[in-house]
Amino acid sequence: MDIKKVNSMDFGEFVDVFGNVIERCPLIAAAVWSQRPFSDLEDLKKHFFAFIDALPQSGQEGILRCHPDLAGSELRRGTLTAESQREQSGAGLTTLGADERLRLAELNAQYRARFGFPFVLAARFSDRAAVSRELARRLLCPSAQELRTALGEVKKIGSLRLADLLRADPAKL
Ligand code: GUN
Repeated sequence: MDIKKVNSMDFGEFVDVFGNVIERCPLIAAAVWSQRPFSDLEDLKKHFFAFIDALPQSGQEGILRCHPDLAGSELRRGTLTAESQREQSGAGLTTLGADERLRLAELNAQYRARFGFPFVLAARFSDRAAVSRELARRLLCPSAQELRTALGEVKKIGSLRLADLLRADPAKL
């Protein structure tokens, strides 16, 4: 898909295609559509990120809360979005042993209790060992720093998802 195709999309098509660039936040794609035309992928990305940066802290935390836990109950129930399923599977989180799953569940719960939102990591840059290690490390970070880190991960995930979509064969969309 090229940028001309993106700029030709009506509202419904744009939200269908880009609605999960930010996990379970189609409102962001809905707002970004109004900013068309976009000059290229970078420009499109800039608009998604500008929306996130302009939110008050409560909105930014809301975005994080739309993410499912990594290797959590949604993965077991099969209710993840296709993108999250692919990313978690690529990081080896769909084939954890019982001990690893339990350890990650404990760390996820501690993280959520400490910061009030789930642990978000661009899983595509990680493997199962790195996910646990990073989770344990970030649990000890100050809250303000952790919010910035987590939003940075949301942007990395969004960048990768946007790049996938713009590289995708239009015949498959
Ligand atoms: N990293 C990549 N995808 C996801 C997701 O769906 N949830 C969380 N918590 N992190 C992710």
